[in-house]
Parts: sequence; structure tokens; C-alpha cells
Amino acid sequence: MKTLFIGQNIIRLKRVDSTNNYAAGLLRHTVIYDGTVVSAEFQEMGKGQRGNHWESEPGKNLLISIILEPKFLKPDCQFQLNKMVSLAICDLLESLEIKNISIKWPNDILVSGKKIAGILIENTLRSGEIIHSIIGIGLNVNQTKFNSPNTPVSLKIITGKNFSLDAILENLCSSMEARYLKLKSNNSAPDNDYLQTLYQLGKVKNYLVKGEKISATISGVNPDGLLILQKENGEEIFCDLKEVVFLQN
Ligand code: BTN
Repeated sequence: MKTLFIGQNIIRLKRVDSTNNYAAGLLRHTVIYDGTVVSAEFQEMGKGQRGNHWESEPGKNLLISIILEPKFLKPDCQFQLNKMVSLAICDLLESLEIKNISIKWPNDILVSGKKIAGILIENTLRSGEIIHSIIGIGLNVNQTKFNSPNTPVSLKIITGKNFSLDAILENLCSSMEARYLKLKSNNSAPDNDYLQTLYQLGKVKNYLVKGEKISATISGVNPDGLLILQKENGEEIFCDLKEVVFLQN
């Protein structure tokens, strides 16, 4: 592993309920090195956003949780971690010459509009500090058939090739460390990189906001991580994950 700390300690599991849960258990019971990675071949209860289940065939995809100690970030800057992680996954995909990558707010990575990776970040806050962050990442690598109605994609579906999960993990740890160290020195992830990659930025699309269907454009994400939608009359709406659904146009 060509990194300083992320992935220097890797806990490899065949089967687990969820790598995020396993990482949380470790943090409760042991001293864990910053940058430790928990990796599993299969999850019985892989967790997604909004209480969803994360589906993955055994041994086909990357299922990891990275434990970080971002004590330098104030809790109200937690969304910087989402940005940093999203950009690190985009860097990895770019290094594999994948095209048409976008970040669907707040934490889906898409290729040509289809989901290839999901991120579930669980932070532990204490005394005004983020003492631990469990960065859960599911990246579809070699799986070619999915049951999900959202037709996800994988690296294999896009390129026709099989990939070594170890090589992908090593590459991801490197891009994550580079982005994390930048975040640590600047206290923010680069807004330009994030906005440039943001799915549907500046395009008029339909959204369901608090039950009401509206036509709007995404104009950005505020420092609290709320999505900023601008209606055609110029009015801005700030939404959290529970308040907005992206509708198919
Ligand atoms: C989402 O898109 O809804 C987030 C999915 C996150 C899935 C990953 S797989 C590894 C880690 N362990 C979990 O239980 N979830 C995350």
C-alpha cells in the first residue's frame, strides 16, 4: 500500500453484518489506528442511506469502511467529509479512464447517470469535535446483474473487464489519502471540483420537495450540506436528504 496511513491496517472479513457496524464495534472496544480499513467480501445487512439495504454479490465488489479521526473539522463542517470522499471516488474512477462521472448529492457516484458507488458516513461527535468518522463505501466492481430497480452499474458493466479488488482498494486508499490531507490543510474540500461534478447542476429538472412537485435547477450545496434548488421565479429552497426526491425527467 503506497499510503502514509489510510489502508496501512486492513481488517479483512469474509462475512459481516455491515462493515460500518463492525468498525463502530471496534471503536467501542479497542484502540484503532487512524486510517484503518474494514473490508468484507459479503454483508448480510449492508446499510444504505435512508434506511435502505446495500445489495452486493459475495466477493464481487468493494465493501469497505475507513476509520478516520477528523478532529480538525468542526461538527458543523461535517459535509466537507462527504465532498472529500465523493471527490476521492471520482479521482479513482478517472484514473481508470471512466467517463461521464457525476456526484449525485449528497453521496451517490454515478456514471452516465447510473449509480456505481454509494457512501454512508457515520460520525461520532464529542465536545465540539468529530472524534471518529466511519466512511462506508460500496463500489460496484465485478458484479453484472443487480436486483435493484434503479439499474446500478459496475466497472465490469462499463468496461467489459474484470478488476482486482485489491488493486482497486489500494488505488482508492491513495486517492482518499490525497483528498483527506488536502482537506486537513485547507479545512475545506475544493468547491469548484465538487460543483463541476455535481449531477444536474444548472439544469432545469423536476424534483419532489416536501411532497410538492417543482421544476428547478440545482445551484449548489450550502456549508451545512443542504441542496440549494432555485425555482423558475428565482426563489431558493434549501433541502435535506429527507425533503427532496429527484424525479425522472
Ligand atoms: C447508499 O448509497 O445508500 C450508501 C451505501 C453505502 C454502502 C456501504 S457498503 C460498505 C459500508 N457498510 C455498510 O453497511 N454500508 C456501507
